[in-house]
Amino acid sequence: MKKVFISPSILTADFARLEQECKSLQKSGADWIHCDVMDGMFVPNLTFGMPVVANIRKCVILPLDVHLMIVEPKRYVEQFARAGADIITFHVEATDDVVGTIEQIKKCGKKVGLSLRPNTPIEALLPYKGMFDLLLVMSVEPGFGGQSFIEASLDKISKARELFPDILIEVDGGVNLSNCAKVVQAGADVIVAGSAVFNSENRKDAIQQLKMG
Ligand code: DX5
Ligand code: ZN
Repeated sequence: MKKVFISPSILTADFARLEQECKSLQKSGADWIHCDVMDGMFVPNLTFGMPVVANIRKCVILPLDVHLMIVEPKRYVEQFARAGADIITFHVEATDDVVGTIEQIKKCGKKVGLSLRPNTPIEALLPYKGMFDLLLVMSVEPGFGGQSFIEASLDKISKARELFPDILIEVDGGVNLSNCAKVVQAGADVIVAGSAVFNSENRKDAIQQLKMG
C-alpha cells in the first residue's frame, strides 16, 4: 500500500493556542505541518510570517512544510529557512525569477516545492524539471481554508504524476475524508488538510483515515 503523508494546514487552527494546536497535530499522527504564508498581494488574505514559523519550530519536531503565497518569494527564502522551514514551496506565478528562487532555497539546504494556481497548467513546470523536489497542486483558489475541492484537479494531479514521476506530488485545498481516496488514486503522495482535520471530532481518527487514502 502506498505511503500517504498528511500535512495538516494550520490556517484553520486557533491562532491564540498555536503551540497546543501544533502539539496536538504531532500527537495525532501528522507527518508534516503545513504553514500557509499569505501577503495580501499574491492572494487576498494575510496570515503570518517568519516569527510564527520560528515559534512553531520550537514546539514540534515535525517537518515544516511552508507554502509561500507571496509575491517575489526569493526576498524571504533565507529568513524562512532560518526560521526552521524544511520544505519551502512557492508559486511560479509569483515571480519572474523561478530559477533564482529555486537556487536560493537550495543554497539554504531546504527542499524545493513549486506550486500552481488551479488555472495554471502542469506543463508550466516543464522548464524546471529536475530542479525541484515537490509539486504542490492547488485544488482550490489559494487564499482561504474551508473551500470546496475543484474536481478538475484530479486530471491535473494525474498529469503531474505522468510528467513528474520521481518527485512528491502534494495536493492542497478542499481535501477531506470523502474525496481523499480519489486524490491519492490520481497520484498524490502528500495531502494537505486544514478544515478536514481541525473541524473533525477526533483529529487522530481523521488523520488516520486520510492516511488510508
Ligand atoms: C489555501 C491554503 C490551503 C488551505 C487548506 O490557500 O493553501 O493550505 O489552508 O485548507 P482546507 O483543507 O480547509 O481547504
Ligand atoms: Zn497551503
